[in-house]
Amino acid sequence: MDRRSGADRRLADRDRPEGDRRGVDDRRVDDRRTGHERRNEAALQPVALESASAGGFDDAALVAAAIDARGRARARFSGFKVGAALETSTGEVVTGCNVENATYGLTMCAERVALYKALSDGRDVFTRIAVVADTDDPTPPCGSCRQLLWEFCGDIEVILANLSEVKRRVRLSQLLPLPFDARLLE
Ligand code: THU
Repeated sequence: MDRRSGADRRLADRDRPEGDRRGVDDRRVDDRRTGHERRNEAALQPVALESASAGGFDDAALVAAAIDARGRARARFSGFKVGAALETSTGEVVTGCNVENATYGLTMCAERVALYKALSDGRDVFTRIAVVADTDDPTPPCGSCRQLLWEFCGDIEVILANLSEVKRRVRLSQLLPLPFDARLLE
């Protein structure tokens, strides 16, 4: 199993042809599109949960885990509950919910709770994350979460859902098209 972190994989993959890179890129709908085309494309249309599975993977189970985690959100100040479910390369699912507090500013998003739980438990390679909120429009990860997911997970698939359906499915690189990361510190 490839246990390199997202950043390590990208550093090593940089000089390899795109088709030779491992990981979730394999499940792109059309790999012949350029990165530019992929980033500029309006991502996938809303998909009913029942038919949302891509390549045999069970989106519904990942979304269900995020919905379950959302139920544990500590969101008494905003009332905005979010759940996240991060899938590891071995098929494990690590969940998170947002945790707010009286200082407001120390709030932690569901995505980062899931990520930090997974990292601290020794999980290192990730494939997808589902993010669930009770909104008609998709609720994407905030800027801080995009940065952290990029550095530790690489270009994972991001599934944005509400309580009844998947609203959108994007690559993290679509949400963070010009990232700052360890490559620039070399
Ligand atoms: N929040 C998340 O947990 N994830 C997101 O993707 C967006 C925002 C939380 C932070 C805060 O507790 C509440 O939603 C309102 O911003």
